[in-house]
Amino acid sequence: MKIIIVTGATRGLGLAVARQCIADGYKVVAVGRTMTEELAFLLQQYSECIDFERYDFSDTEGIHLFAVQITKKYGRPWGLVNNAAIGRDGVLATLHERDIADLIKINIEAPILLTKYILRPMLINRCGRIINVSSIIATSGFNGLSVYGATKAALAGFTKSLAREVGKAGITVNTLAPGYMETDMTSALQGDRLESVRRRSPLGHLATVEDAAYAVSYLLSEQSSRVTGTTITVDAGSSC
Ligand SMILES: NC(=O)c1ccc[n+]([C@@H]2O[C@H](COP(=O)([O-])OP(=O)(O)OC[C@H]3O[C@@H](n4cnc5c(N)ncnc54)[C@H](OP(=O)(O)O)[C@@H]3O)[C@@H](O)[C@H]2O)c1
Repeated sequence: MKIIIVTGATRGLGLAVARQCIADGYKVVAVGRTMTEELAFLLQQYSECIDFERYDFSDTEGIHLFAVQITKKYGRPWGLVNNAAIGRDGVLATLHERDIADLIKINIEAPILLTKYILRPMLINRCGRIINVSSIIATSGFNGLSVYGATKAALAGFTKSLAREVGKAGITVNTLAPGYMETDMTSALQGDRLESVRRRSPLGHLATVEDAAYAVSYLLSEQSSRVTGTTITVDAGSSC
């Protein structure tokens, strides 16, 4: 069974990606801090296909050892989905420095370090798939999300150069850019602000985590072997 590491797989998009990966026949290493009922259910139902590894990505110094332990325990991974992230809403002028530092650490530094150390076994295998979860906000912008948007743009930039670096080793690196999806991260966006996001979609509805998970499924597949350095947007057309 091919191994896929999915960060932030305890809820939201990461959980949907974990479910999709199980359906696609992979073994999932689900990483996060807090066990949820939904993840516990998956672990119980599909014990052969998914394991949980607790890790807090604010501990960037421990990522090297964590990656080595994961590879030792499960074997060389086929895929890494850098999905874990935090969203801190607030205009820059009043955003706390602590929030800015956390956003940079968890949304940029941690996925870059994890990729660095998970790449090594992929390079030995001379194959693999890396998917960085960005956001349409990286390119469209959103009032109150300047630092979050900057972290998501950083990941998309990371994808581009890394794809050039590891392509000859048969490893693809791509970005997924979801639009608004209903998850814990977006639960504060309600009322008129949510309506205005919905109105922007030519389809008249919002993308779901399942829609985005299907795109990840494609990027992880053998069929996407000639797709690298690009961004797949799943936003019900909101940014078109
Ligand atoms: N929702 C949207 O509308 C939307 C739109 C565009 C892009 N995205 C992107 O999609 C991805 C998933 O977002 P989501 O909406 O599913 O978010 P979510 O519901 O808030 O879930 C975030 C996940 O990240 C994990 N996480 C957060 N901080 C962590 C840390 N320090 N260490 C380990 N894990 C951590 C959480 O797990 P624990 O709490 O268990 O640690 C959780 O599993 C993110 O990269 C986000 O930027 C979301």
